[in-house]
Amino acid sequence: MPLDNTADFAPFEDRMRAEGLPQIVIDNFHYYYDVLASGSVGMIPEDTIMPVSAVAGVEEVAAYTEAGHAALGRAAVLKLNGGLGTSMGLDRAKSLLVAREGMTFLDVIAQQALSFGTRYNTNVPLILMNSFNTDADSRAVLARYPALEGPIPLSLMQNKVPKVLQSTLAPADWPANRNLEWCPPGHGEVYIALATSGMLDALLAHGYEYLFISNVDNLGATLDLGILGYVAEHNVPFLMEVADRTEADRKGGHIAQRLDGQLILREVAHCPEADLPAFQDIRRHAYFNTNSIWVNLPQLKALLDANNNVIKLPMIRNAKTVDPKDSRSPAVFQLETAMGAAIAVFPGARVLRVGRDRFMPVKTCDDLLRLRSDIYTLDEGFRLVQANDIAPTIVALDSRFYKLIDDFEARFAAGAPSLRGCERLTVQGDVAFGAGVVCQGAVRVHNRAETQAHIPGGATLSGEHDLNAS
Ligand code: UTP
Repeated sequence: MPLDNTADFAPFEDRMRAEGLPQIVIDNFHYYYDVLASGSVGMIPEDTIMPVSAVAGVEEVAAYTEAGHAALGRAAVLKLNGGLGTSMGLDRAKSLLVAREGMTFLDVIAQQALSFGTRYNTNVPLILMNSFNTDADSRAVLARYPALEGPIPLSLMQNKVPKVLQSTLAPADWPANRNLEWCPPGHGEVYIALATSGMLDALLAHGYEYLFISNVDNLGATLDLGILGYVAEHNVPFLMEVADRTEADRKGGHIAQRLDGQLILREVAHCPEADLPAFQDIRRHAYFNTNSIWVNLPQLKALLDANNNVIKLPMIRNAKTVDPKDSRSPAVFQLETAMGAAIAVFPGARVLRVGRDRFMPVKTCDDLLRLRSDIYTLDEGFRLVQANDIAPTIVALDSRFYKLIDDFEARFAAGAPSLRGCERLTVQGDVAFGAGVVCQGAVRVHNRAETQAHIPGGATLSGEHDLNAS
């Protein structure tokens, strides 16, 4: 059912033009705006798809390592760095947080790139995709590593698009802070931003053909020579690294195949109610997208040229308020797309199954505590290596006191406890940890009091700890 037949794109076009946005950005936004106005959600019923089976694994492509060496001079790396980590209460780039050993995510990524370059006597360009929210801070961090500089710029800027009022589908007006009238259009914009920033042409002009793109918060996503060799040898237009779905991933999206064989991503929003059991069947639909992809740049360029620079991805309608911190401000839609959805628009796209060592995203403070702990070490190439064999260590911190980054930092100011010998750490209530606390086995710490409790430095925890027991 159309939401509003009178939806009018002209005021958006005027606003975007006044802001100096490129025509490609306006055309793409126009397409998604029409999708919004038509009210169509683009359902993918179960009988229109097939499960994906017989997926090659990363261990099999190790045989392509030599080919990867040969292709190194044509490879570049891009990190998605435009998001804010709002679910951790951040209002700047998540990559500026300390990941480990006093180094931010960006420091670790810069060091990974530099040591890779030294080891293979090469210079693989490292590029950040920033948004207007993350650009200045992130560039300041990379400026600490002048050796990263080369012929390719270190960053490109995502574009911004107008927020749409839910009530009328008109542009949102917010004179109190005009910045809040705009949002980044999701990481699916990477293809368009590569084009509008001139980065795609610059890469092609310098002979780069393979672009490895991943989330900035996934330090496991390093340049792998076997995968590079595989995409180069087989001229793969688009390769997505996928991982096995577990019970915890039942509600997240999965990879599937259309009946013509084309790979696609199906999110729960695309699944008719009646097909939900099949959607959640992790034996049937066994793989999810890790958001690490390898794109063949000449083929991306050809795809953009053939489609007048409009890549029609499934639209994500994100419902928010115009001021995210003011729940009484007008309700808006932010129109976004997801990078991985492009698997559907590259004929010949492939998936490759990888282990959790290439997928260690930090989405919550629970993830951050694991990352900072001695579960991991950094090797000489600044790659994360799991130092224990208790996998995965589960961390479950009380969301009332540890969900937002500042609350979390205040309670672990003395550093992460040792989790190397810990299967599960559950914290209920408000508890601050001293330095050098060691957790062993399954640990549950419980403080029922209103006031904060402290675990003294050097304590060893195992089993149940009721901090209010007399
Ligand atoms: P997510 O959508 O998972 O978001 O982005 P996030 O930033 O981790 O966290 P929340 O949902 O706001 O809490 C995956 C990756 O894509 C980047 C993010 O920076 C992250 O590296 N991203 C996201 C962009 O580059 N641009 C966007 O518009 C959105």
